[in-house]
Amino acid sequence: MRSDYKGVWTALSETLSSAKMHVSGTEDEAIFEASGAGTSEFLLNNVGIDPTDVILEIGCGVGRVGKHLAGRCRRWIGADVSPNMLRFAADRLRDFPNVDFVELSGNDLQPIPDNFIDVAYCTVVFMHLESWDRYSYVKEAFRVLRPGGKLYVDNVNLCCDGGWAIFETHRKFSPAERPDHITVCSTPQELQEYLKRAAFEQIESYAGEELISVWGRKPSHRVSKLTGIGRLGFGASEPPTN
Ligand SMILES: C[S@@+](CC[C@H](N)C(=O)[O-])C[C@H]1O[C@@H](n2cnc3c(N)ncnc32)[C@H](O)[C@@H]1O
Repeated sequence: MRSDYKGVWTALSETLSSAKMHVSGTEDEAIFEASGAGTSEFLLNNVGIDPTDVILEIGCGVGRVGKHLAGRCRRWIGADVSPNMLRFAADRLRDFPNVDFVELSGNDLQPIPDNFIDVAYCTVVFMHLESWDRYSYVKEAFRVLRPGGKLYVDNVNLCCDGGWAIFETHRKFSPAERPDHITVCSTPQELQEYLKRAAFEQIESYAGEELISVWGRKPSHRVSKLTGIGRLGFGASEPPTN
C-alpha cells in the first residue's frame, strides 16, 4: 500500500544497490555523484545555504545530496522513513563530524523541535507521496524552520514535455500492476499552493526539463493580531544531539 511508506521504502532499500537504484535509477557511482553535486549546486545557487546554517533533508535516501552539502553548512540532518536508507547515508557521510540522522514516521517531522532549522529541502520524494502527505511535510517544515528559514521542494512537473513523458510511461501500468512507489507528478500550481497555504513568503519556482522546483521563506516575524505590532518569541535553539 502506497501510504505505508515505512514498509514500502524499507523493503526497497534492503541492499545498497537496490537503495541506490530506487533513489536515482543508477548504481553507477560516478553518475550518482554527479547528480548529487548537481542538486546541491542548485540549492546553493538558488535557495542559498550559509556556512553557519543547520540543514534538514526530508527523505535523504543514501545521502546522495547530503554528501555534497555537509561540508557547506554548520550541521546537516538527514531524515528518512527507511532505517535502511539512513544506515547507508550514515556510511556515505561517515567522514563528516557535523551530521545527524533521524528516522521519520512518514508524514511528520516529530523528532525535530520548532524553529530549529535554517534550510529544509525535500528532493525527489514528493512523487512517491500522497498529496496530503506532501502538504503535511510543507506544514511541518514551516514549524521546524526558524523565522526567515527556507523550504525547497520539487516533483516531476506534469506541465512540461519531460514530465508528461514520465506520466505517459507510468500510465502503461495497469491499475493492478502499479508499484506502491510509482511516480505521481505535480503541477507547479500545486506545489506553490502548498507553500502559500502553509504561510511561506517570497515563493519562487524553477521549471527544469522534468522537475518543477519551488521554494519559499518562513516570515521573519509575525505581526500580533491584537495589537498590530510585536514579534512572537521564537527562541534560538541548538541542533539535536544524538
Ligand atoms: C527517490 S529517493 C530520494 C532520496 C534523496 N532525496 C535523493 O535525492 O537522493 C526517495 C526517498 O524518500 C524516502 N521516503 C519515502 N517516503 C517517505 C516519507 N513518507 N517520509 C520520509 N521519507 C520518505 C525514501 O525512503 C527514499 O529515501
